[in-house]
Amino acid sequence: MKKLYAVIGYPIGHSMSPVMHNDLFSFYQIDGHYLPFQVAPENLEDAVKGLKAIGVGGFNVTIPHKSRIIPYLDGVDELANAIGAVNTVVNEDGRFIGYNTDGSGFLTGLENQFASIEGKKILVIGAGGATRGIYFTLAKEKPAKIDIANRTVEKAWSLINDCPYPNSSAAFSLEEAEQVLEDYDLIIQTTMIGMAPKVSEQPIKLDNLKKQAIVCDIVYNPLKTKFLQDAEQKGAQIQNGIDMFVFQGALAFEKWTGTFPDAERMRAIVLKQLGG
Ligand code: ATR
Repeated sequence: MKKLYAVIGYPIGHSMSPVMHNDLFSFYQIDGHYLPFQVAPENLEDAVKGLKAIGVGGFNVTIPHKSRIIPYLDGVDELANAIGAVNTVVNEDGRFIGYNTDGSGFLTGLENQFASIEGKKILVIGAGGATRGIYFTLAKEKPAKIDIANRTVEKAWSLINDCPYPNSSAAFSLEEAEQVLEDYDLIIQTTMIGMAPKVSEQPIKLDNLKKQAIVCDIVYNPLKTKFLQDAEQKGAQIQNGIDMFVFQGALAFEKWTGTFPDAERMRAIVLKQLGG
């Protein structure tokens, strides 16, 4: 019997996940189908019960439910629990178990294009919800150094203090970060700054960027933010947010089906949806 998979969010109309996952089900000849469901916050508990009653194979969770869903699940893995957010739920013998593949999707996408983060000095820009998954996942891997720069420095410190993995991270203001930029091999922009329609914004200036640095942006609309354009002009290697999106989906698909899918195929589907 065909297995149902889903994504729940509010709103959900913009999601590129259904087209991406349905292409994979058909390509790998897996008898599954993936549907988007718009679930208002007050209906979240009922929606989870309903998904369990109809026996879905698993589902993705997006804004605004990623944290609020946790009490309605039967279990949450260690990293997702530390992050405090779930983006992937797997039906494991009738029990709904929550995972977070956002941070690991970012890391897998990064290591797929570049080398391992081992020995790297990393600066993360931002201290919001998206930062948390990326920062905790990278801190767990024990890079040479991982620091956070944020407009509100206290928020960066509280993220560092919340991190369950040993680290010696420091927090900086955006202005301070501009001054010490030369210290870092890898800069990761994790805020929505530069996203359409405000495409002329950039979180920090890159004048002191180290030669050969890698600069990533989690934004993928536009595909090349002003920040990435600036980084490229200064000789950096760049990566946009498509990789994080593709690999969080690939890791979810693997959890549901046991198959790690072809990321290049997924990237092509996503680019097509973005009108590329
Ligand atoms: P989300 O949970 O969706 O990531 P968020 O928690 O509001 O959203 O976090 C947004 C991030 O973008 C924060 O790091 C925020 O900085 P503050 O912690 O100082 O608020 C950052 N941010 C948003 N707009 C910004 C701007 N115009 N300049 C600098 N940083 C900004």
